[in-house]
This record gives sequence, structure tokens and C-alpha cells, in this order.
Amino acid sequence: MTETTTVDLQQLAKDHLWMHFTRMGGYDAAEVPIIVRGEGCYLEDAKGKRYLDALAGLFSVNIGYSHGEEIGQAALEQMRELPFYTNWSYAHPRAIELAAEVASLAPGDLNRVFFVSGGSEAVESAWKLARQYYLVRGEKRLRRAAAEPETFHDALVAAGKPQRRYKAIARHLAYHGTTLGALSINGIPAIRMPFEPLLPEVRHVHNTNRYHRRPDETEQDFTSFLLDDLEQTILSMGPETVCLVHMEPVQNAGGCFTPPVGYWQGVRELCDRYDILLSADEVITAFGRLGYWFGSERYDIRPDIVTLAKGLSSSYGAIGAVIATDRVMEPFLDATSMYSHGITFGGHPVMCAIALANIEIMKREGIVEHVRATEDAFRAKLETLLDLDIVGDVRGTGFFYALELVRDKETRATFSDEECETLLRGYLSPALFEAGLICRTDDRGDPVVQISPPLVATGTEIDEIVGILGDVLAEAQRRI
Ligand SMILES: Cc1ncc(COP(=O)(O)O)c(C=O)c1O
Repeated sequence: MTETTTVDLQQLAKDHLWMHFTRMGGYDAAEVPIIVRGEGCYLEDAKGKRYLDALAGLFSVNIGYSHGEEIGQAALEQMRELPFYTNWSYAHPRAIELAAEVASLAPGDLNRVFFVSGGSEAVESAWKLARQYYLVRGEKRLRRAAAEPETFHDALVAAGKPQRRYKAIARHLAYHGTTLGALSINGIPAIRMPFEPLLPEVRHVHNTNRYHRRPDETEQDFTSFLLDDLEQTILSMGPETVCLVHMEPVQNAGGCFTPPVGYWQGVRELCDRYDILLSADEVITAFGRLGYWFGSERYDIRPDIVTLAKGLSSSYGAIGAVIATDRVMEPFLDATSMYSHGITFGGHPVMCAIALANIEIMKREGIVEHVRATEDAFRAKLETLLDLDIVGDVRGTGFFYALELVRDKETRATFSDEECETLLRGYLSPALFEAGLICRTDDRGDPVVQISPPLVATGTEIDEIVGILGDVLAEAQRRI
């Protein structure tokens, strides 16, 4: 096949490619952005223009774009040795090595690793695991449950009191993926709505966004408010029906909501009190994003389950995982028990080889340590943007930040939907891209700019990010 030209690619993209979460009609007149290569923290488009990728792909290319040669070699060797085999009843060396490596990096007794191909599958698998855990641990009802009618849920609800744990709790505005189970856990109404009714039953509690709380509320009061909300929700759902509390260490959607003091200890305590499994969604936060291998370490979360994807391979390969503690695994070690779940590509040997190579690079280059050593300077630099009236808040930690944009800094008043449309979609996103910076403007909650560069970014890239943001936001401010 002859090499496709840039012009051909444009036309072929317009004719055939269906991009994710994309208003395809917007490309009738405009050109599809086509990214052709990457190096370090930079990307290049089909016309040779360079961009600083302040979003690390999708919060995920943790080691940056320069390690294709080395990781490709690991993939090639695995292709030669064993291009595919399954984790359904079999093991193979790379899955075993990666499981052991992940377990050794994970905090506490998170020792058992179940591989999947991405974040949504990991979240889906965590919920299924939690549902089945109580069955296997409890009455060993597995075989009896199989004989129950498919309308089991409806019948139980109609009878007044469901007798099994199947419900989940997550937080408002949190993003957890798009497959139906993971989507049901999502707290973003706009992406749930087209697919409702979703899985029974998930409720969403307050997230840890403090910016629009009363200014005189103390951090401790805020924590108490959040924990009370969680406890009331558990009680109103019926604690004996809830199997999972699923939350990110730092919530991405809405703009890097960090936890207030004592929050995670309180959530852990409530999960213990009501015998509910606590799942940390670390699809973004693991593998260095918060300056630790796991965000759970940073906040001493002690989850029962962790979901992973993105940074596990720095997105060089499609691999995710669910990690379970010894306690969660224990009933599944019974001679006749099994987690009734599997995915063909889960633990794919080439993906495992890629993830192993990624971890080796992260260790060799001291990437987690680099984030810890650089985060204060990164934050301080971003905080200079607070000089602009349009920037109301800078929040986040590690290499994971958001700027909240406001119409009025004094009152913290936000923009109307129409203003978001013209300001974010109409001006900011294209202007940042035009200026050579890829980051995300998001108004699924209050409008934010999300910044989450590859973890290899240094002071030079951070200065460039803040410089471009400063110029473009100053112009946005003039336009209001
Ligand atoms: C916290 C979180 N969970 C789950 C997912 C879903 O991951 P994937 O897109 O790999 O299915 C994402 C994706 O951004 C995420 O940020």
C-alpha cells in the first residue's frame, strides 16, 4: 500500500473515522486534527506543527512519547515468544510477572491482580467482583443463585427488601467509564442520560469540591458534612444491599477535587461499619500522577479493591487491572469458588510485556520521585495565574491540576451555559490548540481547564504551559 498523504488522511478521516465524544458535524467545514508523532511531552500534527501535550494523551502517557523503541522491543520479543495466550484457566510468564510487580508496588495487602483491557472494564469488573464477593463469602449461594429467575432484581424489589448486596455508591460528577456498568457508576448526568435506564442501583454522594462552599466552613466541618451525606445515603439505600463505594483518590471530572482532611479515613470507617467494599478508582491517579505509585498511598485510603488502566502501560498498550486485597480474595480461594468473569484480552501477553517495560522505565528514570520533587514548583507556577480575574481557583496535586474559571472572582459566580459554549468551545479550546497547547476545557461541572502533562515534564515545559495559558486566558478575560 502506498503511503497516504495528509490530504488523503483528512478525507478518509471525514468519510470513515468516528471519533469518541466528538461532535462529528463540527468537522464538515473544519479540519480533523491529525497527530502523527510524539517525542517527550510534545506531539506533532500532519502539517508538522508541534504541540505541548499538557494532558498526557488522556491523563495517561505518564512516561511521555519517547520510549516507543524500547517498549516496542519488549513487545516484539513477546510477539516472537508467545503472541497470545489467555488467562482463562491458564497463566503465562508476563501476566505472572506483571501481577507480582503490581502487587509489590501496591500498598498494604492488595496482592491479587485480575487483568482487563482498559479502565471501563476495570470499573465494571470491580463492581461485579463486589457483587459476587458477598455471595461467595456469605451463604455460598452461587449455585442456587444460578437457578433464580432472570428477573431476580425486580422480584426482590417487588418483595420489598432485596436480600443481597448489589448496589453501588459513587460521587456526583465523577467519570468512571462508558460501558453500561461503569456508566451507571458515573455521576455525570449528560453522559448517563442518553442510555438510561442504567443498572440498578447507584446513588451519588457529594464530591469534595470546596470552592463553592460557604467561605467560613472549616475543612473539618466540610469533612463531617461529606461523611454524613455518605452515611445517610448508605442508610437510605439499605446498608445490607450496598456492595461497593467507588471513588477516585482525587476526582478528575469537575476539576481535581482533592479530599479534605480526614475524609478518606472517614469513608474507610463507614465502609467497615456497614461492611461495604471500598474501591479506589486509580485509573488516572496510579503510576505516579499524584507523586506515588498509588494515590491510595498518598491519602492512606486502604481500599479493598483498586481499578487501574492508563498509566499501567503509560497507554503504550491497552491494559487495565483490578487489584484485590487478601481479604477480598480469600473466599474465592475456596476449592469450588470462582470469580465468574473473564475477558479474552485480559492479561494479553504483549500488553503485559509493554506494562512491565513501562514500569521498568518509570523505576529507572525515577519518575515517581520526579513528580514529588517538582509538584510544589508546578503548583506555585500555576498559582501565578490567579492574578487573572477569570481564574478563580487552582486545585490538584502531583502532576494533576485544574483551573476553575469564573465570571466574578469576588462572588465566585460561574458562567451560564451559553457563555460556556462561546467561551470554552468557541474560544478557549481552539485558541489553546492554535497556540500549541493541548489541555482540556471541561464544563461538565463548573468550567475548568485541566492540566495533566506527562510525568517527565520539567520546569521548561511547565513554564511553557503556564505561559500559553496566561496569554490565552488573558484574552478570554478581555472577551467576556
Ligand atoms: C477515573 C476513571 N475511571 C475509568 C475510566 C475509564 O477508562 P477507559 O477510558 O480506559 O475505559 C476513566 C477514563 O478516563 C477514568 O478517568
